[in-house]
Amino acid sequence: MVDTFEISVNKVAESRLSKVDFDGIKFGRDYSDHMFMADFYDGKWHDSRIVPFAPLTLSPANVSLHYGQSVFEGMKAYKNANGEVLLFRPLVNSRRINISAKRMCLAEIPEEIFMGGILELLALDKDWVPDREGTSLYIRPLLFAMDEYIGIKPSDTFRFMIITCPAGAYYSRPVKVMIETHYTRAVEGGTGFAKAAGNYGSSLYPTKLAQEKGYDQIIWTDAKSHEYVEESGTMNVLFIIDDILVTTPTGDTILKGVTRDSVLTLAKDHDLKVEERKLSVVELIDAAKSGRLQEAFGVGTAASIASISNIGFQETDYKLPVEMLWAKRFTTWLDEIKTGKVEDKYGWIMKV
Ligand SMILES: Cc1ncc(COP(=O)(O)O)c(C=O)c1O
Repeated sequence: MVDTFEISVNKVAESRLSKVDFDGIKFGRDYSDHMFMADFYDGKWHDSRIVPFAPLTLSPANVSLHYGQSVFEGMKAYKNANGEVLLFRPLVNSRRINISAKRMCLAEIPEEIFMGGILELLALDKDWVPDREGTSLYIRPLLFAMDEYIGIKPSDTFRFMIITCPAGAYYSRPVKVMIETHYTRAVEGGTGFAKAAGNYGSSLYPTKLAQEKGYDQIIWTDAKSHEYVEESGTMNVLFIIDDILVTTPTGDTILKGVTRDSVLTLAKDHDLKVEERKLSVVELIDAAKSGRLQEAFGVGTAASIASISNIGFQETDYKLPVEMLWAKRFTTWLDEIKTGKVEDKYGWIMKV
């Protein structure tokens, strides 16, 4: 599937690095100097290359624009105290993009291209990885159809790209979430487990409505009955009820988060009982009312751990305790591993 894997490099004439305000990073606005690209045609990946970050030229008939045959990944690079660049569990993302690719009829990306592209790109743009507390370089691999054809059929040609941008601390304050019982993000047999572009496009409108009511994000519920908690925005959701970490199992409708898996591992290692089981909204709200819901937090690459301060359900707002003991612990433990402050006993870190 790979046509002699070698990456050609065309460097920028002048870096834009000095123009970036690293004290006031605006996430997703300033992109690093270079990007990685590879093209799939004639049944093989070709022409792996690093070029200056620049707009693309696409046919208006490009099928990913029309039919959403497009998937992506999200991961981060961190700096350790010696200024070395570290990646957190990148092979999981490399595998996950291919799970998404298969569901959306896109060509799978060999690990050597995915990882080779990231490592070479980061080696070149390592000065774009911020080193202040809580900051990182966000890495966005994306894979989309390139056929120029108005008609619904799987594309035969694809492009894989990686772009990166500096990221500050994501949610600096606890978030307010609203339980959604009308709109649906994902349904069994659908694409919820994939990082397919359309999942995110369709979530915008319900999220906008929740934001108009003063919430930051939605907690999605199952499509059939809207009785069971699923996930939230770009985060899996975890709850501490009666000193037990409760979270919904991942499946067809929920993205299998790298952060979720890491937090569950840390929890088990710190003797926090974990239950992966269906959690009904009724049980959650009862626990909130009776004070047995001790904590709630979203977990994901962008936010790491986002404590939840309020849960809205049927026009009532339930306020959670402010203490957030476990959320703070997980934030610290993950941060220490990701930035090389503690020994990585799990083998999660890859040095660039
Ligand atoms: C829908 C959804 N759920 C959960 C997550 C969290 O996954 P991860 O921890 O791998 O970032 C993400 C982010 O990628 C997401 O988009």
